Amino acid sequence: MSAQVVVGTQWGDEGKGKIVDVLAEQADMVVRFQGGDNAGHTVVVNGVKHVLHLLPSGVLRKEAQCIIGPGVVCNPFVLLKEMETLRQSGLSTDHIKISDRAQILMPYHCYQDELEEAAAQNKIGTTKRGIGPCYQDKYARRGIRFHEFKNFETFEKRLRYSVEQKNKLFTSVYGAKPMDVEEMVAQFKEIHDQIVPMIIESTHVVNQAIKENKRVLFEGAQAAMLDINYGTYPYVTSSSPTAAGVTVGAGIAPSKIDQVIGVVKAYSTRVGEGPFVTELLNEQGELLRQQGFEYGATTGRPRRCGWLDLLVVKHADMINGLTDIVLTKVDVLGGLDEIKVCIGYEIDGEVYDYVPSDQSDVAKAKPVYKVLQGWKEDISKCRTWDELPEACKSYVEFIEQFCEIPVSMISVGADRENNIYRNDRVRP
Ligand code: GDP
Ligand code: IMO
Ligand code: MG
Repeated sequence: MSAQVVVGTQWGDEGKGKIVDVLAEQADMVVRFQGGDNAGHTVVVNGVKHVLHLLPSGVLRKEAQCIIGPGVVCNPFVLLKEMETLRQSGLSTDHIKISDRAQILMPYHCYQDELEEAAAQNKIGTTKRGIGPCYQDKYARRGIRFHEFKNFETFEKRLRYSVEQKNKLFTSVYGAKPMDVEEMVAQFKEIHDQIVPMIIESTHVVNQAIKENKRVLFEGAQAAMLDINYGTYPYVTSSSPTAAGVTVGAGIAPSKIDQVIGVVKAYSTRVGEGPFVTELLNEQGELLRQQGFEYGATTGRPRRCGWLDLLVVKHADMINGLTDIVLTKVDVLGGLDEIKVCIGYEIDGEVYDYVPSDQSDVAKAKPVYKVLQGWKEDISKCRTWDELPEACKSYVEFIEQFCEIPVSMISVGADRENNIYRNDRVRP
């Protein structure tokens, strides 16, 4: 497999970072293609935890070139901080490159995100990392890309004009303080020499790697239900965290994608606002939060928890064309008497077998559950399928049969080593 895509199938935080790190052991290149530092991808190596926001999770493998692709909105200050943290842990950062087409996420985007959220009638619960405002500017064709940063003089002119325009918005629409342009220019000047050597024309580089049959991993951030078009709009992010997002966000032809791996968490979580049909607002949900340590890696917010929703996974499959599922956090379900999975939505007396697009319908949907038997054993030490309790195997097989997608790998713990491989399709 040359080009492998790893995407989230629910509302994010499925464990994509961990899976990318595992697969990156044998990868030549790992590419982020959308989103920005709204992502929080945790990788645990020998008990040491690394949280990555902008850097691809392959970054801990120094042999794999890491690329922040054209579709990413990249805050260069966050990027440098993240690189510094890695260096402090003794890790190399020489293999990190930024696409010249990627958008520069500016300090004013973060400020705008905060002001928009504070003033919004319908709060989304964003990460306040400036993601929405940066994509707004990109699609309005007034964004500033990394290639423009190479020439500081022209960049500075563009920056000054943009801050002037944004300050009009901040002061007259939001009644907020303007931003200090001099300070911003100075901040950018300071990082110029560190950022410029990392800027490359990535699209040629990535396509060449695929042509040479090198193993390239595309790491999705966020997930299908946060997709700008097919998620729970407007409670979504501003990019396409799907296999199709790879084509536009990395410059890869659809026909070049060999495998689309959907990461499915064994239950559901969501951070921020928006409908969540299987949400458990009781001690059962609290138990999942505690056992699964469900607190946001970016904002620290407690994640909303609920049972696995297979309509959501099917929806993710429909828009991604999943070739494989990697099922994560199965260990977290250990100790329960029974486990529920949602296989339908009842809306106004009618049962749906797909997720409707109208969020007011989703908001009133009642889950139709299939109740499966739980297991008592701690499965975190299991490394083969045969070692798993029968009830756990049945749980996995039910998902596989309902979604008609092979569960090729099962993750039973946060560390790199805690995996069960079921075939040769998804493994390092
Ligand atoms: P991502 O955003 O999809 O990369 O996921 P996050 O890193 O935000 O959240 C997943 C969390 O679960 C992280 O803290 C991981 O270390 C942890 N994790 C990943 N896989 C497993 C697993 O199989 N079992 C357990 N117990 N934890 C896991
Ligand atoms: P990873 O990659 C979970 C959510 C926010 C909010 C909505 C919009 O770690 O899975 P944004 O800041 O993107 O404008 O916020 O999307 N959100 C995530 N939730 N995991 C993420 O990333 C997320 N990135 C954004 O909480 O509801
Ligand atoms: Mg996360």
